[in-house]
Amino acid sequence: MADGRRTVLVTGATSGIGREAARQLARLGAHVVLGVRDPDRGEEVAREIRGSGGSAEVLPIDLASFESVRRAASRFAETHASLDVLVNNAGVAVRQRELTADGHERTWQTTFLGGYLLTRLLLPALRRGSRPRVVNVSSDAHPTGRIDWNDLELEHGYGGYQAYANSKLAQILFTRELARREPWLSVAALHPGAIATRIWREVPLIPLRMMILAVLWIIGGRIHNAARGADPVVRLASDPALDGVTGRYFKRFRETSPSKAAQDDATAARLWDYAERETGLAG
Ligand SMILES: NC(=O)c1ccc[n+]([C@@H]2O[C@H](COP(=O)([O-])OP(=O)(O)OC[C@H]3O[C@@H](n4cnc5c(N)ncnc54)[C@H](OP(=O)(O)O)[C@@H]3O)[C@@H](O)[C@H]2O)c1
Repeated sequence: MADGRRTVLVTGATSGIGREAARQLARLGAHVVLGVRDPDRGEEVAREIRGSGGSAEVLPIDLASFESVRRAASRFAETHASLDVLVNNAGVAVRQRELTADGHERTWQTTFLGGYLLTRLLLPALRRGSRPRVVNVSSDAHPTGRIDWNDLELEHGYGGYQAYANSKLAQILFTRELARREPWLSVAALHPGAIATRIWREVPLIPLRMMILAVLWIIGGRIHNAARGADPVVRLASDPALDGVTGRYFKRFRETSPSKAAQDDATAARLWDYAERETGLAG
């Protein structure tokens, strides 16, 4: 980090890419806020970071609960004057369709709506930050995604991979619209690569897992470990060369165009309004 101790909030920092990104950002000198749904496991990561001379704290947050996201954002605002970087990393792939207490499909709420709400609530803190950034960890699964206004949350014909791809497409559209609305902010979405993590643990069938990893391998070129997956996230969160770069999509380190559907400004604007209503931010 070029300019002193930056405050970086990483969601889903208990495992995989999020945990590695938090470690790396702390090594670069950031104060890392670990947004986690299991505070005990979060404390383990925080202790490890502090043990290596870094600075970290735990912020309990369940992205699948609007109430929890609101509580976390309030707690953050009470204890921090500003936020420099928000990394929306938490995500799930859920095999069977499940509804959250808020009545949304779990993958959709955890990966898209929860991150949307958190980002919106933290905009005032980001506005007070230095060179503020938002990094949305999306995926090259997004071209399979669909925004079907008649069945946004797959009530009819649910498939775990489809739900995952839909939420990843929504994250990129959100990135696009956020960049358009908030030009003072630098916001990016990325595909971190095909990474061996726990994300596929809810897909219990070995052949199906193998198939998904094979698809990711074909898309991403090769399968990396979590530390390699964190590298491009850390770069987007910290590289001063990216100051002022906003609304873009990266495949690991390379800026590239996302799918045509992910570049649809009308859908991005409509999705923003929809998310605003669903998360209780409208009116
Ligand atoms: N692995 C890949 O090949 C790949 C490829 C493209 C994109 N991605 C994206 O990378 C991101 C990180 O995934 P990963 O591969 O590192 O998987 P992971 O190891 O399963 O990590 C996911 C993280 O999200 C957290 N999380 C899940 N549900 C949550 C909730 N309701 N509230 C708060 N946190 C929650 C998990 O917490 P717990 O530890 O409590 O479960 C965990 O820390 C995801 O957005 C994923 O879609 C991954």
